[in-house]
Amino acid sequence: MTDTTRPPYAGTRYPKLAEVPAFTEFIARGWGAEPVPAPMVDGAAEAAASHRRRLSERLPGAVIVVAAGTARVRNDDCDYLFRADSDFVWLTGCQTEGAVLVMTPVPGGHDAQLYAPPPFRPGDTGFFANAAHGELWVGASPGLREWAEALQIGVEPLPALDDRKDLGGALAAGAVSEALVAEHGLEVSPQLGRNLSQLRMVKDAWEIAQMRLAIDATVAGFAETVREIPRAVEDGLGERWLQGTFDRHARTHGNGPGYATIVGSGAHAPVLHWVRCDGPIVPDAALLLDMGVEANSLYTADVTRTIPASGTFSPRQREVHDLVERAHRAGLAQIRPGTVYLDFHFAAMEVIAQGLHDWGLLPVSVDEALSPSGQFHRRYLACGIGHHLGLDVHDCSKAEYEDYMGAELEAGVVMTVEPGLYFHANDLTVPPELRGIGVRLEDDVLVTETGSEVLSAGLPIDAVGVEDWTKALLA
Ligand code: GLY
Ligand code: MN
Repeated sequence: MTDTTRPPYAGTRYPKLAEVPAFTEFIARGWGAEPVPAPMVDGAAEAAASHRRRLSERLPGAVIVVAAGTARVRNDDCDYLFRADSDFVWLTGCQTEGAVLVMTPVPGGHDAQLYAPPPFRPGDTGFFANAAHGELWVGASPGLREWAEALQIGVEPLPALDDRKDLGGALAAGAVSEALVAEHGLEVSPQLGRNLSQLRMVKDAWEIAQMRLAIDATVAGFAETVREIPRAVEDGLGERWLQGTFDRHARTHGNGPGYATIVGSGAHAPVLHWVRCDGPIVPDAALLLDMGVEANSLYTADVTRTIPASGTFSPRQREVHDLVERAHRAGLAQIRPGTVYLDFHFAAMEVIAQGLHDWGLLPVSVDEALSPSGQFHRRYLACGIGHHLGLDVHDCSKAEYEDYMGAELEAGVVMTVEPGLYFHANDLTVPPELRGIGVRLEDDVLVTETGSEVLSAGLPIDAVGVEDWTKALLA
């Protein structure tokens, strides 16, 4: 039962401050109101306008609804950090939670309208009572006018979306909520998702510049992380310390890590997505670092190096690294306009299969291993050799096989090349000296008009280069 002799506790669930007139009247006044500029990355609005034009040409006549999404609740009124949907960001340059883009066909193209939640300002109950969006809780936010100026499109308050009676059958994508779909009769559209993935495969000059920022920051983050190895070893701080070091760098020099940072020492290195990072840094083991900074525009890098924690590879680690390097170079050589996307994958796989055969690890010939009904080498390399990269680490994932794996590369594609070899500590098919060695080499590569450019070339790829680079940082 409510104890009416004691004052209300908080603004939301328990006896409500919002029901105390003296309080609401007092808290509504006496606040200065400086406009808050919309947080836009330079050039993002113009890039988004061009992306909308490209989508409009693909789907003339379709009403299109794409939503930014909302943060997932972690507990009570505490949410996970919000990260806007990538299709929405590609079309708007805006990262505001809860916003919805509606593109309506007009003669010659589409009209774009954003519906965004207005900030809870002084005088609104949410100002003091909404922990997710109240300015008293989360700080002042840009208003709709500031967003309209920054985005160069019309911006209406989100509740005005309820008044749109023309959205039945509209194609929907992004983080569109079930409630919005049901309320307006939207059609969550694989066709729209596929078109967006197809369009996002070819990056424009602004996007490539954003990816260079992300990749350069990542290269710097590798150096910062490697410099912390002695501390991680000597103070027993382990993989967690290196993961935290890179994540701090990513948050300082970008929006944050573009995916869960992988730091795998020794027997953890062969684990493809070792994000637990709760082990020690073993001083004489290989250390796999798979890390990417997501820029403030949300474009991300995805780079891997495997380094000797001591500065010098053991002979076996070196042999594995050399084979992965040969596969890497074979894959890179296939990246140019006109090759089919999967060519680089098969070129790298051939080198891996031949190398494993030479080491006596395959129970069949190289041809049998490589045949569709064999694939024995994949025991030691179960994942693919790369993927598209952009706003998402595994970018353009709504594309169909023929748009992606079977499509010809064209200038503007950015992709990773990332062969590896993964000999698990408990794999009894390999000699004991190979068990617990995992090596991956991953670069981010831009397809150019005449060939390709390795955007992450600031890091060495050969074993001697990796050793020299590591030693210089440990000195
Ligand atoms: N670097 C993470 C991945 O490609 O899966
Ligand atoms: Mn990758």
